[in-house]
Amino acid sequence: LEPDGTKHFTLTMMQGTTEFLEGKTTDTWGINGSYLGPTVRVSRGDKVSFDVINQLGETSTLHWHGMMLPPEMDGGPHQMIEAGKTWSPHWKIDQPSATTWFHPHLHGNTAQHVYRGLAGMFIIDDEDSKKLPSNYGVDDIPLIVQDKLFTSDGQFSEDDDTTFGILGDEILVNGTHDPFLEVTSSQVRFRLLNGSNARAYTFGFTDERSFQLVANDAGLLQEPVTLERFMLSPGERAEIVVSFEPGEETILHSYKNGTGIASGEFDLLKIVAASELSESKQIEGQLSSVEPIEVPADAKVRQFRLSMDNKINDKSMDMSRIDEVVPAGGKEIWEIRNFGSEHNFHIHDAAFRVLDVNGKEPQEYERGRKDTVFVPHGATVRLAVEFGNYTDLKYPLMYHCHLLKHEDDGMMGQFLLV
Ligand code: C2O
Ligand code: CU
Ligand code: CU
Repeated sequence: LEPDGTKHFTLTMMQGTTEFLEGKTTDTWGINGSYLGPTVRVSRGDKVSFDVINQLGETSTLHWHGMMLPPEMDGGPHQMIEAGKTWSPHWKIDQPSATTWFHPHLHGNTAQHVYRGLAGMFIIDDEDSKKLPSNYGVDDIPLIVQDKLFTSDGQFSEDDDTTFGILGDEILVNGTHDPFLEVTSSQVRFRLLNGSNARAYTFGFTDERSFQLVANDAGLLQEPVTLERFMLSPGERAEIVVSFEPGEETILHSYKNGTGIASGEFDLLKIVAASELSESKQIEGQLSSVEPIEVPADAKVRQFRLSMDNKINDKSMDMSRIDEVVPAGGKEIWEIRNFGSEHNFHIHDAAFRVLDVNGKEPQEYERGRKDTVFVPHGATVRLAVEFGNYTDLKYPLMYHCHLLKHEDDGMMGQFLLV
Protein backbone atom coordinates (compact mmCIF):
# COMPACT_ATOMS: atom_id res chain seq x y z
CA LEU A 1 0.00 0.00 0.00
CA GLU A 2 1.15 3.50 -0.81
CA PRO A 3 0.28 6.41 1.52
CA ASP A 4 -2.83 7.36 -0.50
CA GLY A 5 -4.14 3.78 -0.36
CA THR A 6 -2.95 2.78 -3.84
CA LYS A 7 -2.15 -0.92 -4.03
CA HIS A 8 1.35 -1.29 -5.40
CA PHE A 9 2.79 -4.38 -7.10
CA THR A 10 6.23 -5.18 -8.46
CA LEU A 11 6.35 -7.58 -11.39
CA THR A 12 9.77 -8.65 -12.64
CA MET A 13 10.01 -10.42 -15.99
CA MET A 14 12.94 -12.80 -15.89
CA GLN A 15 14.54 -15.89 -17.39
CA GLY A 16 14.87 -19.11 -15.47
CA THR A 17 14.56 -22.87 -15.64
CA THR A 18 11.73 -25.17 -14.63
CA GLU A 19 11.47 -28.93 -14.21
CA PHE A 20 8.12 -29.84 -15.83
CA LEU A 21 9.11 -33.35 -16.87
CA GLU A 22 10.89 -35.53 -14.38
CA GLY A 23 14.64 -35.19 -14.56
CA LYS A 24 14.56 -32.67 -17.41
CA THR A 25 15.27 -28.97 -17.20
CA THR A 26 13.40 -26.52 -19.42
CA ASP A 27 14.55 -22.96 -20.07
CA THR A 28 11.57 -20.76 -19.23
CA TRP A 29 10.51 -17.18 -18.73
CA GLY A 30 8.42 -16.01 -15.81
CA ILE A 31 7.25 -13.09 -13.73
CA ASN A 32 8.65 -12.97 -10.18
CA GLY A 33 9.68 -16.59 -10.73
CA SER A 34 10.75 -19.03 -13.38
CA TYR A 35 7.40 -19.77 -15.06
CA LEU A 36 4.11 -17.77 -15.23
CA GLY A 37 3.51 -15.02 -12.68
CA PRO A 38 1.73 -14.28 -9.41
CA THR A 39 -2.04 -13.80 -9.27
CA VAL A 40 -2.91 -10.15 -8.74
CA ARG A 41 -6.17 -9.68 -6.82
CA VAL A 42 -7.86 -6.34 -6.17
CA SER A 43 -11.35 -4.90 -5.72
CA ARG A 44 -13.44 -2.58 -7.82
CA GLY A 45 -12.65 0.99 -6.77
CA ASP A 46 -9.02 0.24 -5.83
CA LYS A 47 -6.25 2.38 -7.20
CA VAL A 48 -3.38 0.21 -8.42
CA SER A 49 0.17 0.90 -9.51
CA PHE A 50 2.85 -1.42 -10.87
CA ASP A 51 6.55 -1.47 -11.42
CA VAL A 52 7.08 -3.83 -14.32
CA ILE A 53 10.79 -4.58 -14.41
CA ASN A 54 12.23 -6.14 -17.54
CA GLN A 55 15.15 -8.45 -16.76
CA LEU A 56 14.66 -10.59 -19.87
CA GLY A 57 17.62 -9.13 -21.73
CA GLU A 58 15.33 -8.04 -24.57
CA THR A 59 12.39 -5.71 -25.16
CA SER A 60 8.91 -6.83 -24.13
CA THR A 61 5.62 -5.32 -22.90
CA LEU A 62 3.00 -6.32 -20.34
CA HIS A 63 -0.64 -5.97 -21.40
CA TRP A 64 -3.63 -6.10 -19.03
CA HIS A 65 -6.04 -8.25 -21.02
CA GLY A 66 -9.65 -7.47 -20.12
CA MET A 67 -8.89 -4.30 -18.20
CA MET A 68 -10.74 -1.01 -18.66
CA LEU A 69 -8.04 1.63 -18.28
CA PRO A 70 -6.40 4.70 -19.84
CA PRO A 71 -4.92 3.54 -23.20
CA GLU A 72 -1.46 4.73 -22.18
CA MET A 73 -1.51 2.13 -19.37
CA ASP A 74 -2.71 -0.75 -21.59
CA GLY A 75 0.69 -2.36 -22.11
CA GLY A 76 0.09 -3.04 -25.78
CA PRO A 77 2.70 -2.82 -28.55
CA HIS A 78 3.22 0.93 -27.98
CA GLN A 79 4.22 0.61 -24.31
CA MET A 80 7.53 -1.13 -24.93
CA ILE A 81 9.80 -1.89 -21.98
CA GLU A 82 13.40 -2.12 -23.08
CA ALA A 83 15.81 -4.59 -21.50
CA GLY A 84 16.78 -3.40 -18.03
CA LYS A 85 14.03 -0.77 -17.88
CA THR A 86 11.00 -0.40 -15.60
CA TRP A 87 7.51 0.62 -16.73
CA SER A 88 5.17 2.04 -14.07
CA PRO A 89 1.51 2.11 -15.08
CA HIS A 90 -1.27 3.05 -12.67
CA TRP A 91 -5.05 3.33 -12.88
CA LYS A 92 -8.25 2.99 -10.89
CA ILE A 93 -10.10 -0.33 -11.13
CA ASP A 94 -13.48 0.66 -12.49
CA GLN A 95 -15.31 -2.34 -13.95
CA PRO A 96 -17.39 -5.27 -12.68
CA SER A 97 -15.69 -8.25 -11.00
CA ALA A 98 -13.90 -10.48 -13.49
CA THR A 99 -11.07 -12.91 -14.09
CA THR A 100 -8.66 -11.00 -16.31
CA TRP A 101 -5.01 -11.69 -17.10
CA PHE A 102 -1.74 -10.14 -18.18
CA HIS A 103 0.77 -11.13 -20.85
CA PRO A 104 3.33 -9.50 -23.19
CA HIS A 105 2.18 -7.86 -26.41
CA LEU A 106 5.38 -6.96 -28.26
CA HIS A 107 4.42 -6.72 -31.90
CA GLY A 108 5.78 -9.72 -33.78
CA ASN A 109 6.96 -11.53 -30.62
CA THR A 110 3.83 -12.02 -28.55
CA ALA A 111 3.57 -15.73 -29.34
CA GLN A 112 7.15 -16.41 -28.28
CA HIS A 113 7.02 -14.37 -25.08
CA VAL A 114 3.74 -15.88 -23.90
CA TYR A 115 4.78 -19.40 -24.88
CA ARG A 116 7.98 -19.17 -22.87
CA GLY A 117 5.92 -18.44 -19.78
CA LEU A 118 5.03 -14.78 -19.37
CA ALA A 119 1.41 -14.64 -18.15
CA GLY A 120 -0.57 -14.34 -14.94
CA MET A 121 -4.10 -13.97 -13.65
CA PHE A 122 -5.59 -10.67 -12.50
CA ILE A 123 -8.74 -11.05 -10.42
CA ILE A 124 -11.15 -8.20 -9.75
CA ASP A 125 -13.63 -8.62 -6.87
CA ASP A 126 -16.82 -6.76 -6.10
CA GLU A 127 -19.85 -7.31 -3.88
CA ASP A 128 -21.42 -9.70 -6.40
CA SER A 129 -18.37 -11.90 -6.85
CA LYS A 130 -17.83 -12.29 -3.10
CA LYS A 131 -21.12 -14.22 -2.87
CA LEU A 132 -19.35 -17.07 -4.71
CA PRO A 133 -16.59 -19.23 -3.18
CA SER A 134 -13.68 -16.77 -2.83
CA ASN A 135 -11.08 -18.39 -0.63
CA TYR A 136 -8.08 -18.38 -2.98
CA GLY A 137 -6.40 -21.75 -3.36
CA VAL A 138 -9.05 -23.45 -1.21
CA ASP A 139 -12.45 -23.11 -2.91
CA ASP A 140 -11.45 -20.50 -5.49
CA ILE A 141 -8.90 -22.06 -7.81
CA PRO A 142 -7.19 -20.47 -10.82
CA LEU A 143 -6.52 -22.86 -13.71
CA ILE A 144 -4.27 -21.57 -16.48
CA VAL A 145 -4.37 -24.17 -19.24
CA GLN A 146 -1.56 -24.30 -21.82
CA ASP A 147 -0.34 -26.87 -24.32
CA LYS A 148 3.37 -27.39 -24.89
CA LEU A 149 5.56 -29.19 -27.33
CA PHE A 150 8.75 -30.53 -25.74
CA THR A 151 11.95 -31.51 -27.52
CA SER A 152 13.46 -34.87 -26.54
CA ASP A 153 15.80 -33.13 -24.10
CA GLY A 154 12.91 -31.36 -22.38
CA GLN A 155 13.12 -27.88 -23.90
CA PHE A 156 10.06 -26.04 -25.21
CA SER A 157 9.94 -26.61 -28.94
CA GLU A 158 9.02 -23.45 -30.78
CA ASP A 159 8.12 -25.33 -33.94
CA ASP A 160 5.10 -23.37 -35.15
CA ASP A 161 4.68 -24.82 -38.63
CA THR A 162 0.92 -25.25 -38.50
CA THR A 163 -1.37 -22.49 -39.76
CA PHE A 164 -2.44 -21.94 -36.17
CA GLY A 165 1.05 -21.79 -34.70
CA ILE A 166 2.51 -24.00 -32.00
CA LEU A 167 0.32 -26.97 -31.09
CA GLY A 168 1.57 -28.92 -28.12
CA ASP A 169 0.85 -32.52 -27.18
CA GLU A 170 1.47 -32.02 -23.46
CA ILE A 171 -0.62 -29.92 -21.10
CA LEU A 172 0.49 -27.68 -18.27
CA VAL A 173 -2.03 -26.40 -15.75
CA ASN A 174 -0.65 -23.48 -13.72
CA GLY A 175 2.74 -24.54 -15.03
CA THR A 176 2.40 -28.10 -13.73
CA HIS A 177 2.58 -31.22 -15.88
CA ASP A 178 0.19 -34.01 -14.84
CA PRO A 179 -1.45 -31.98 -12.05
CA PHE A 180 -3.54 -33.21 -9.16
CA LEU A 181 -5.85 -31.28 -6.83
CA GLU A 182 -7.48 -32.28 -3.56
CA VAL A 183 -10.59 -30.24 -2.85
CA THR A 184 -11.84 -29.75 0.68
CA SER A 185 -15.21 -28.04 0.27
CA SER A 186 -18.54 -29.09 -1.20
CA GLN A 187 -18.46 -26.38 -3.85
CA VAL A 188 -15.41 -25.14 -5.66
CA ARG A 189 -15.09 -22.21 -8.04
CA PHE A 190 -12.62 -22.75 -10.86
CA ARG A 191 -11.37 -19.78 -12.86
CA LEU A 192 -10.29 -21.16 -16.22
CA LEU A 193 -8.00 -19.26 -18.53
CA ASN A 194 -7.05 -20.59 -21.93
CA GLY A 195 -3.50 -19.26 -21.91
CA SER A 196 -2.48 -21.30 -24.96
CA ASN A 197 -1.11 -19.82 -28.16
CA ALA A 198 -3.54 -21.58 -30.47
CA ARG A 199 -5.45 -24.47 -28.95
CA ALA A 200 -9.12 -24.34 -28.11
CA TYR A 201 -10.42 -26.57 -25.33
CA THR A 202 -13.86 -28.02 -24.83
CA PHE A 203 -13.94 -28.54 -21.08
CA GLY A 204 -15.93 -31.17 -19.23
CA PHE A 205 -15.46 -33.88 -16.61
CA THR A 206 -14.80 -37.55 -17.38
CA ASP A 207 -17.74 -38.64 -15.19
CA GLU A 208 -20.00 -36.37 -17.28
CA ARG A 209 -21.03 -34.38 -14.21
CA SER A 210 -22.72 -31.06 -14.76
CA PHE A 211 -21.58 -27.81 -13.18
CA GLN A 212 -22.59 -24.19 -13.09
CA LEU A 213 -21.09 -21.61 -15.40
CA VAL A 214 -21.07 -18.36 -13.41
CA ALA A 215 -18.89 -15.97 -15.42
CA ASN A 216 -17.53 -15.28 -18.88
CA ASP A 217 -14.37 -13.29 -19.66
CA ALA A 218 -15.47 -9.90 -18.45
CA GLY A 219 -17.83 -10.61 -15.59
CA LEU A 220 -20.48 -12.66 -13.86
CA LEU A 221 -23.57 -13.95 -15.63
CA GLN A 222 -26.98 -12.69 -14.56
CA GLU A 223 -27.64 -16.18 -13.23
CA PRO A 224 -25.78 -19.50 -13.31
CA VAL A 225 -26.16 -21.81 -16.31
CA THR A 226 -25.97 -25.58 -15.80
CA LEU A 227 -23.66 -27.18 -18.36
CA GLU A 228 -21.64 -30.30 -19.06
CA ARG A 229 -19.31 -28.81 -21.67
CA PHE A 230 -18.07 -25.42 -22.82
CA MET A 231 -15.35 -24.17 -25.08
CA LEU A 232 -12.64 -21.56 -24.58
CA SER A 233 -10.48 -20.34 -27.45
CA PRO A 234 -7.13 -18.66 -26.72
CA GLY A 235 -7.41 -15.70 -24.34
CA GLU A 236 -10.94 -16.52 -23.18
CA ARG A 237 -11.83 -17.13 -19.51
CA ALA A 238 -14.77 -18.68 -17.68
CA GLU A 239 -15.66 -19.32 -14.07
CA ILE A 240 -17.50 -22.47 -13.06
CA VAL A 241 -18.73 -23.77 -9.72
CA VAL A 242 -18.52 -27.53 -9.25
CA SER A 243 -20.16 -29.54 -6.43
CA PHE A 244 -18.33 -32.44 -4.79
CA GLU A 245 -19.30 -35.36 -2.56
CA PRO A 246 -16.74 -36.63 -0.03
CA GLY A 247 -14.21 -39.05 -1.53
CA GLU A 248 -15.26 -38.47 -5.15
CA GLU A 249 -12.77 -38.50 -7.98
CA THR A 250 -13.02 -36.96 -11.41
CA ILE A 251 -10.85 -35.57 -14.18
CA LEU A 252 -11.22 -32.20 -15.86
CA HIS A 253 -10.89 -33.14 -19.51
CA SER A 254 -10.62 -31.46 -22.88
CA TYR A 255 -12.82 -33.10 -25.51
CA LYS A 256 -12.13 -33.10 -29.19
CA ASN A 257 -14.59 -30.86 -30.88
CA GLY A 258 -15.66 -31.13 -34.49
CA THR A 259 -15.84 -27.41 -35.08
CA GLY A 260 -13.15 -26.13 -32.72
CA ILE A 261 -9.77 -25.02 -33.96
CA ALA A 262 -6.91 -27.21 -33.03
CA SER A 263 -8.93 -28.91 -30.35
CA GLY A 264 -7.59 -32.05 -28.77
CA GLU A 265 -8.32 -34.85 -26.33
CA PHE A 266 -6.46 -34.26 -23.07
CA ASP A 267 -6.77 -35.05 -19.39
CA LEU A 268 -6.19 -31.68 -17.76
CA LEU A 269 -6.53 -32.05 -14.00
CA LYS A 270 -7.17 -34.97 -11.69
CA ILE A 271 -9.43 -33.94 -8.81
CA VAL A 272 -10.05 -35.87 -5.59
CA ALA A 273 -12.49 -34.70 -2.94
CA ALA A 274 -11.32 -35.18 0.66
CA SER A 275 -13.20 -37.67 2.83
CA GLU A 276 -14.71 -34.77 4.75
CA LEU A 277 -15.77 -31.60 2.99
CA SER A 278 -16.60 -28.24 4.50
CA GLU A 279 -20.12 -27.15 3.55
CA SER A 280 -20.17 -24.22 1.11
CA LYS A 281 -23.12 -21.90 0.95
CA GLN A 282 -25.44 -22.45 -2.01
CA ILE A 283 -25.13 -20.09 -4.95
CA GLU A 284 -27.95 -17.59 -4.98
CA GLY A 285 -30.22 -17.09 -7.99
CA GLN A 286 -29.01 -13.73 -9.20
CA LEU A 287 -25.29 -13.31 -9.63
CA SER A 288 -24.48 -10.05 -11.38
CA SER A 289 -26.17 -6.79 -10.53
CA VAL A 290 -24.74 -5.26 -13.73
CA GLU A 291 -27.21 -4.96 -16.61
CA PRO A 292 -26.33 -6.87 -19.79
CA ILE A 293 -24.75 -4.66 -22.47
CA GLU A 294 -27.35 -3.10 -24.77
CA VAL A 295 -26.70 -0.81 -27.70
CA PRO A 296 -29.09 1.92 -28.88
CA ALA A 297 -31.17 1.16 -31.98
CA ASP A 298 -29.16 3.64 -34.06
CA ALA A 299 -25.77 2.38 -32.84
CA LYS A 300 -22.89 2.67 -35.27
CA VAL A 301 -22.06 -0.64 -36.98
CA ARG A 302 -18.47 -1.41 -37.94
CA GLN A 303 -17.53 -4.38 -40.07
CA PHE A 304 -14.38 -6.46 -39.82
CA ARG A 305 -13.48 -9.12 -42.37
CA LEU A 306 -11.06 -11.80 -41.26
CA SER A 307 -9.29 -13.47 -44.15
CA MET A 308 -7.38 -16.64 -44.95
CA ASP A 309 -4.11 -14.69 -45.17
CA ASN A 310 -4.50 -13.33 -41.61
CA LYS A 311 -5.62 -9.84 -42.52
CA ILE A 312 -8.44 -7.73 -41.08
CA ASN A 313 -10.33 -5.69 -43.71
CA ASP A 314 -7.55 -6.62 -46.16
CA LYS A 315 -4.95 -4.85 -44.04
CA SER A 316 -2.00 -6.06 -42.01
CA MET A 317 -1.16 -4.40 -38.69
CA ASP A 318 0.72 -1.12 -39.07
CA MET A 319 1.90 0.48 -35.84
CA SER A 320 1.68 3.93 -37.41
CA ARG A 321 -1.81 3.62 -38.95
CA ILE A 322 -5.06 4.31 -37.07
CA ASP A 323 -7.78 2.04 -38.44
CA GLU A 324 -10.78 3.20 -36.43
CA VAL A 325 -11.73 6.17 -34.25
CA VAL A 326 -14.27 5.29 -31.56
CA PRO A 327 -16.06 7.61 -29.12
CA ALA A 328 -14.82 7.02 -25.55
CA GLY A 329 -17.50 5.38 -23.42
CA GLY A 330 -19.50 4.68 -26.59
CA LYS A 331 -21.57 1.67 -27.56
CA GLU A 332 -21.39 0.18 -31.03
CA ILE A 333 -22.13 -2.98 -32.96
CA TRP A 334 -19.03 -4.72 -34.30
CA GLU A 335 -19.71 -7.32 -36.95
CA ILE A 336 -16.94 -9.85 -37.47
CA ARG A 337 -17.07 -12.01 -40.61
CA ASN A 338 -14.65 -14.86 -40.96
CA PHE A 339 -13.67 -15.69 -44.53
CA GLY A 340 -10.57 -17.48 -43.29
CA SER A 341 -10.01 -20.73 -41.49
CA GLU A 342 -10.73 -20.31 -37.81
CA HIS A 343 -9.98 -17.24 -35.77
CA ASN A 344 -11.09 -15.44 -32.68
CA PHE A 345 -11.42 -11.75 -31.93
CA HIS A 346 -10.41 -9.67 -28.93
CA ILE A 347 -10.89 -5.96 -28.27
CA HIS A 348 -8.82 -3.95 -25.80
CA ASP A 349 -10.44 -1.58 -23.31
CA ALA A 350 -13.90 -2.92 -24.10
CA ALA A 351 -16.47 -5.43 -23.00
CA PHE A 352 -19.10 -6.95 -25.23
CA ARG A 353 -22.08 -9.22 -25.44
CA VAL A 354 -22.40 -11.61 -28.36
CA LEU A 355 -25.65 -10.63 -30.09
CA ASP A 356 -25.72 -13.49 -32.57
CA VAL A 357 -23.66 -15.96 -34.56
CA ASN A 358 -24.91 -16.40 -38.14
CA GLY A 359 -28.12 -14.69 -37.03
CA LYS A 360 -28.76 -17.27 -34.31
CA GLU A 361 -28.39 -17.14 -30.54
CA PRO A 362 -24.82 -17.64 -29.38
CA GLN A 363 -23.87 -20.84 -27.53
CA GLU A 364 -25.17 -21.03 -23.98
CA TYR A 365 -21.65 -20.61 -22.61
CA GLU A 366 -20.93 -17.35 -24.42
CA ARG A 367 -23.91 -15.16 -23.60
CA GLY A 368 -22.34 -13.16 -20.77
CA ARG A 369 -19.94 -10.25 -20.62
CA LYS A 370 -16.86 -10.94 -22.73
CA ASP A 371 -13.78 -9.43 -24.35
CA THR A 372 -12.68 -12.30 -26.62
CA VAL A 373 -14.89 -14.45 -28.85
CA PHE A 374 -14.44 -17.47 -31.06
CA VAL A 375 -15.36 -16.80 -34.71
CA PRO A 376 -16.07 -20.11 -36.49
CA HIS A 377 -15.00 -20.63 -40.09
CA GLY A 378 -17.44 -18.87 -42.40
CA ALA A 379 -19.40 -17.29 -39.55
CA THR A 380 -20.64 -13.78 -38.90
CA VAL A 381 -20.53 -12.81 -35.23
CA ARG A 382 -22.20 -9.60 -34.09
CA LEU A 383 -21.10 -7.96 -30.86
CA ALA A 384 -22.69 -5.22 -28.73
CA VAL A 385 -19.55 -3.45 -27.55
CA GLU A 386 -19.12 -1.01 -24.68
CA PHE A 387 -15.85 0.95 -24.78
CA GLY A 388 -13.72 2.32 -21.96
CA ASN A 389 -14.47 5.87 -20.99
CA TYR A 390 -10.92 7.16 -21.51
CA THR A 391 -9.74 9.56 -24.18
CA ASP A 392 -6.28 9.33 -25.66
CA LEU A 393 -5.29 10.95 -28.93
CA LYS A 394 -1.79 9.56 -28.84
CA TYR A 395 -1.95 5.89 -27.85
CA PRO A 396 -4.15 3.57 -29.90
CA LEU A 397 -5.74 0.36 -28.62
CA MET A 398 -5.83 -2.98 -30.39
CA TYR A 399 -8.34 -5.43 -31.79
CA HIS A 400 -6.97 -8.71 -33.06
CA CYS A 401 -7.15 -12.45 -33.45
CA HIS A 402 -5.86 -14.01 -30.22
CA LEU A 403 -4.25 -16.96 -31.98
CA LEU A 404 -0.85 -15.51 -31.26
CA LYS A 405 0.80 -16.53 -34.51
CA HIS A 406 -1.96 -14.75 -36.43
CA GLU A 407 -1.64 -11.69 -34.23
CA ASP A 408 2.13 -11.55 -34.75
CA ASP A 409 1.55 -12.08 -38.44
CA GLY A 410 -0.41 -8.81 -38.52
CA MET A 411 -3.99 -9.89 -37.86
CA MET A 412 -4.49 -6.81 -35.73
CA GLY A 413 -5.79 -3.27 -36.07
CA GLN A 414 -5.64 -0.10 -34.01
CA PHE A 415 -8.33 2.29 -32.77
CA LEU A 416 -8.26 5.52 -30.86
CA LEU A 417 -10.74 6.35 -28.12
CA VAL A 418 -11.65 10.01 -28.51
CU1 C2O B 1 -4.62 -10.83 -24.63
CU2 C2O B 1 -4.29 -7.80 -27.25
O1 C2O B 1 -4.39 -9.34 -25.95
CU1 CU C 1 -6.14 -7.55 -24.47
CU1 CU D 1 -6.59 -16.06 -36.29
